[in-house]
Amino acid sequence: MSARNTIILAAGKGTRMKSKLYKVLHRICGRTMVDHVLTQVEKTNMDNIVTVVGYGAEDVEHELGDRTKYVVQEQQLGTGDAVIKAEPLLKDIEGTTMVVSGDTPLFTSQTFEKLFKYHEEKQAAVTILTSKAPDPTGYGRIVRNDIGIVEKIVEQKDASKEEQAINEINTGVYVFDNQALFKSLHQINNNNAQGEYYLTDVIEILKNAGKIIAAYRMADFNESMGVNDRIALSKATKVMQARINQHHMAEGVSIINPDDTYIDVDIKIGPDTVVEPGVQIHGQTTIGSNCRIGANSEIIDCQLHDNVHVISSYLQESEMLDNSDIGPYSHLRPASVIGPHVHLGNFVEVKKAQIDEGTKVGHLTYVGNAHLGKNINVGCGVIFANYDGKNKHNVTVGDGAFIGSNSNLIAPVNIADHSFIAAGSTITDDVNKYDMAIARARQTNKPGYYKKLPYDA
Ligand code: UD1
Ligand code: CA
Repeated sequence: MSARNTIILAAGKGTRMKSKLYKVLHRICGRTMVDHVLTQVEKTNMDNIVTVVGYGAEDVEHELGDRTKYVVQEQQLGTGDAVIKAEPLLKDIEGTTMVVSGDTPLFTSQTFEKLFKYHEEKQAAVTILTSKAPDPTGYGRIVRNDIGIVEKIVEQKDASKEEQAINEINTGVYVFDNQALFKSLHQINNNNAQGEYYLTDVIEILKNAGKIIAAYRMADFNESMGVNDRIALSKATKVMQARINQHHMAEGVSIINPDDTYIDVDIKIGPDTVVEPGVQIHGQTTIGSNCRIGANSEIIDCQLHDNVHVISSYLQESEMLDNSDIGPYSHLRPASVIGPHVHLGNFVEVKKAQIDEGTKVGHLTYVGNAHLGKNINVGCGVIFANYDGKNKHNVTVGDGAFIGSNSNLIAPVNIADHSFIAAGSTITDDVNKYDMAIARARQTNKPGYYKKLPYDA
């Protein structure tokens, strides 16, 4: 049986990123670059996946877990040296081995699949995945002879003037006959401008050994983009962003301005939902159908059901059920569950609270560590005072209760169903069903006092 293997190169430091974070752990649309690569490799059905780690090995292993095997490259002596580290795991296997870099996050499994197919058709020892770059600077160039046969790959820093003019580039993805790969890797040296062991030198070695070298040129350069610095990171992000937004639009989501809408990979959005400009949707968020996500909202790890309306608000790790709405300028903090037909208006902050069907919290209110029943009316400027400086305490409010404006509910306290809190009250004791609680200084009027005041209007 011929096996399919992949080696992912992820040991480099990524000096050009000028970052404390290792290069392949930089994120694009919610996922690290190396995770993007691995995800597409997994979709291509591999028998063995080996990731070469070095700089930040622990962090990379923590990120990818047991989805791949690992080998360590202690010193970053070049891509050829990196691949050879996988030899102990793969050398006896009969089959085909793909090599891909952890810093080329835009490749799709369809492209990998086409590469394997082409390689098998050509019966080559190696097939290089190439593309035509609008600006090839920085990439290895594909050097072909007069009749178009690939002779070698030459790196930017080693290229002559003529070679630098070539715009067909090495994408850094190849499939090799597994055993031919490791055999030829032992013949490379580091006599080049960077003093590194280049994987790319294997091509010329195989060529000189009379093997068949094939090159499969993919149509879309963008997909092959390599990320070595922050400029490329932003370009790759743009490409991924466009791809994600196009997917959602094809599935029936209206995105008013896709250039200014930021949706992570793997987010689910139902049809007829409208996403306005400046929206960011991150993490494990799901959004139902016929929702409206208003301009500049940011939603992180939330579940929004159907017909939910979010107006310019910030939502974290919370759930909003059917026909609920929030905003403008409101904030759901983690562990909030907003029931169906609940209305949260402007400048409302909710934290770790459940609010049941039909309840309205219209304006300027903080709700924390609380359970609010159904059809409650919370007036303007109400504060659920849940913190005593040391511990958090809970407030419960029963169905149909009325919480007058500018009330403070000092936790722990329970407000029963169908009770009434008069505006301006500071509530410290439980309130029973059908009772009204009023806790504020009584008003006194002083007849004629206006005239004794310095105020004169
Ligand atoms: C490499 C290719 C170049 C190609 C480009 C495509 C070589 C010599 N050059 O150049 O032809 O056009 O990719 O994007 O292969 N790495 C290690 N160990 C090392 C060195 C690198 O694991 O010792 C890893 C890096 O983490 C990275 C990948 O290999 O993920 C590629 O290395 P990088 O230094 O980015 O190579 P490029 O200069 O981009
Ligand atoms: Ca690179």
